[in-house]
Amino acid sequence: MSSSVVSFLVSCLLSLLLLRLSTLLDPDPSAAVPRVKRVPSLPLRFRHDGAFKILQVADMHFGNGAATRCRDVAPEVGGARCSDLNTTRFLRRVIEAEKPDLIAFTGDNIFGGSAFDAAESLLKAISPAIEYKVPWAAILGNHDQESTMSREELMVFMSLMDYSVSQVNPPGLLVHGFGNYHVSIHGPFGSEFVNTSLLNLYFLDSGDREVVNGIKTYGWIKESQLGWLRATSLELQKNLHPPAFSFFHIPIPEVRGLWYTDFKGQYQEGVACSTVNSGVLDTLTSMGDVKAVFLGHDHLNDFCGNLNGIWFCYGGGFGYHAYGRPHWPRRARVIYTELKKGYKSWEEVESVHTWKLLDDEFFSKIDDQVLWRRGSR
Ligand SMILES: *[C@@H]1O[C@H](CO)[C@@H](O)[C@H](O)[C@H]1NC(C)=O
Ligand SMILES: *[C@@H]1O[C@H](CO)[C@@H](O)[C@H](O)[C@H]1NC(C)=O
Repeated sequence: MSSSVVSFLVSCLLSLLLLRLSTLLDPDPSAAVPRVKRVPSLPLRFRHDGAFKILQVADMHFGNGAATRCRDVAPEVGGARCSDLNTTRFLRRVIEAEKPDLIAFTGDNIFGGSAFDAAESLLKAISPAIEYKVPWAAILGNHDQESTMSREELMVFMSLMDYSVSQVNPPGLLVHGFGNYHVSIHGPFGSEFVNTSLLNLYFLDSGDREVVNGIKTYGWIKESQLGWLRATSLELQKNLHPPAFSFFHIPIPEVRGLWYTDFKGQYQEGVACSTVNSGVLDTLTSMGDVKAVFLGHDHLNDFCGNLNGIWFCYGGGFGYHAYGRPHWPRRARVIYTELKKGYKSWEEVESVHTWKLLDDEFFSKIDDQVLWRRGSR
């Protein structure tokens, strides 16, 4: 059987599963009618106030829900009564406060080893995005596939969930892994750029684990993925030169060296990357459009540092079942992009900011910084 037939069958099976699970979680009297995926209004676009806000959710590590205990939470802040539901509560809290235009789930969305049923765990983990009808994009980490679904099945499943803009892979191309795709953000309605992408998002699958010369290491981004990335970026920069962001789970080896630079945020644990350097930094540098990369994986790191003019920013751990550090609140990153106000209508991207929100008593906003401004580089 060819691989496209297999993916077709897999997606059919998963649609049925999704149907069963969505009626299970959300009993609806009219559920006898098969329901189709709820799709956000596409293409995604900047708002009428010229802004586009992305919420990065790194490492939710969701398990089974109420029965899954938190890790590394101090008793005096409610550690004893803490479960996956606290992760859900935090996600609702940030969505309500920030009203993001897109949520980027950057892998280890579920912690396979603690999830009896991968599909059910994912539906619960993502549910606040769907409840608030926020478009969302997800990629895989190294733990998502450790339950009942393979990486391909998980990516197909996520691409079929409500309000998801996730895709498995670019159609018609053989690209390594699952979850390599591009999302464009168009100009607002009424602007000159209504049909033009003003911001590009590249999602990449950084794999899970591999063995190199008999030694275990983490996954890395392969040449077929970088080839697709270079070609896509070239195509997207034909007329305009819109800035772009990239999202992947496992950091690249060069991130280690940021220790010796003037990074912003906290660098509290070793960078757990692959021993293989596949030239991701060189590719991103030569493309020219990527201004910032958003990573997950190392929950105790939440810094942004600059390599070759490109920012590499960690999300910082979000999930309560993920390892963390007591008295170091779980956190989320916001990426805020603004267009330039022209004489008559909105123009191209003017600036990119980022900050983090802590799930503490004050809902603290910290480490606000500018990542890019037009005219600088
Ligand atoms: C988890 O949620 C419970 C119930 O809402 C709350 O009492 C507890 O303080 C929370 N724990 C943390 C660490 O936020
Ligand atoms: C955008 O595309 C629509 C539909 O193709 C077209 O009618 C409209 O004139 C275009 N607007 C601009 C500003 O290019």
